[in-house]
Amino acid sequence: MDKDNPRLDVDPETMRAMGHAMVDMVVDHWSHMHRRPAAVTRDAASLRAILREPLPEAPGDWQETLAMAREHIFESMGQIAHPRFLAFVPGPSNAVAALGDILTTGYNTAASLWRETPGPVEMELAVLEWLRELVGLDPACEGIFTSGGSVANLTGIAAGRTAILGEDMAGAVAYCASQTHSSVARGFRILGFARSQLRAIAVDAAFRIDLAALEAAIAADRAAGLRPFCIVANAGTTNTGAVDPMDALADIAAREGMWLHVDGAYGGAAALVPAGRALLGGMARADSVTIDPHKWLFQPYEAGVSFVRHPGLLERTFASNPEYLQDVAGSMLEVNPADRGIQLSRGARAFKMWLSLKLLGARAFRAAVQQGIDNGEMAEDLLRRSGRFEIVTPATLAVITFRFVRPGFDGAAADRLHRRIVDALLADGYAFVTSTELGGRTCLRFCTINPRTTQEDLAGTIDRITAFGDAVPAGDAP
Ligand SMILES: Cc1ncc(COP(=O)(O)O)c(C=O)c1O
Repeated sequence: MDKDNPRLDVDPETMRAMGHAMVDMVVDHWSHMHRRPAAVTRDAASLRAILREPLPEAPGDWQETLAMAREHIFESMGQIAHPRFLAFVPGPSNAVAALGDILTTGYNTAASLWRETPGPVEMELAVLEWLRELVGLDPACEGIFTSGGSVANLTGIAAGRTAILGEDMAGAVAYCASQTHSSVARGFRILGFARSQLRAIAVDAAFRIDLAALEAAIAADRAAGLRPFCIVANAGTTNTGAVDPMDALADIAAREGMWLHVDGAYGGAAALVPAGRALLGGMARADSVTIDPHKWLFQPYEAGVSFVRHPGLLERTFASNPEYLQDVAGSMLEVNPADRGIQLSRGARAFKMWLSLKLLGARAFRAAVQQGIDNGEMAEDLLRRSGRFEIVTPATLAVITFRFVRPGFDGAAADRLHRRIVDALLADGYAFVTSTELGGRTCLRFCTINPRTTQEDLAGTIDRITAFGDAVPAGDAP
């Protein structure tokens, strides 16, 4: 960068050198990740002092800036693709897709309007067909790539509103299990529904929606003159991996003339393998389905997908046709993704998935999904064999919840103990593990969808949990 002649472009040689250095950084990261910490703690004040610099007016030195970015940005974070990142829902990602994003951004690729960028649009439509086939959805499904599961849920619910309610939301009511991801309630709110228009239905002992409670709620609302219009089903809850009874919900929705949306953001990918597909049976009957490739389909952020099983409905919900786009109006063959969702300008998020499916093949994806399920069962086996843990919910779609058992620590003291363990794990860095609450009690949770997680990773994490749990002073018990 020329300090005396500031301009927006770099010469090709500098660009090439910077690009090679960045690719080297990424390749080093991928090849050494397993040996590095999964969790990182940084002190907020010191990190802020480094990063909240005055606006840089003059050109900077690219090598120094890259070194700073490596240390204070990319290595100052929990590594979400790390084999021992077992918290929340990990993003295991894959290296081919990560490189694919370089091309997508390098060409400043858009996939909004067919006539503007036909190749990227047609590629996205192809990937949607591959994905539909991979998870076994109805060939009538049309879809759209989104930023992630939250927007995919919002997209499916918006399509359901168009189909069942049209413009009139008065008295409309929707239903979901109390274990449903918070993005669903947020989606309803963004779409203009009042909080009271979404009912959180009780769950059974396995954290699945209670069908009798659902039917009673629908009947009571109808009797009160309200308009039940939508059921949201979970294809894998975030907390426990629970799968709502899809076929029964599809029957209820059909009988009641309601929309069935399935949130498969994390669990829908399990349909790639027979064990998962058996659990998710009936998902294909849904009117709309969310799948989140940046979770269990190994794509870097961001990539979500919304499928809707009613051709043309996405366009009926989202197309706006302003005069300045009159030259690029879509047709049956020339699809405009901008008419199928909430974004006009949108990147070609599907490309990383196109590249990784082409270069790695669908069989690798199926094996990786199965590995995640197997890892959950391996973790459960290790926890049971250690004799120090109580299993709260068994491994289901690669999620297991459990409690560390320490005599003298009960009730609130046990809850505090688990939060102390999480703090100690974060400070240690070996693994990234978080807690949740089930039945009012704090427990630990593993989400094992990363196929690179080994038995040694799981055993090492469980050993640390035990050691940190035993190290909490006995005086912390009441
Ligand atoms: C079941 C479920 N639904 C929706 C979401 C939201 O997805 P995103 O974070 O991609 O917006 C998540 C995220 O973990 C999830 O687990």
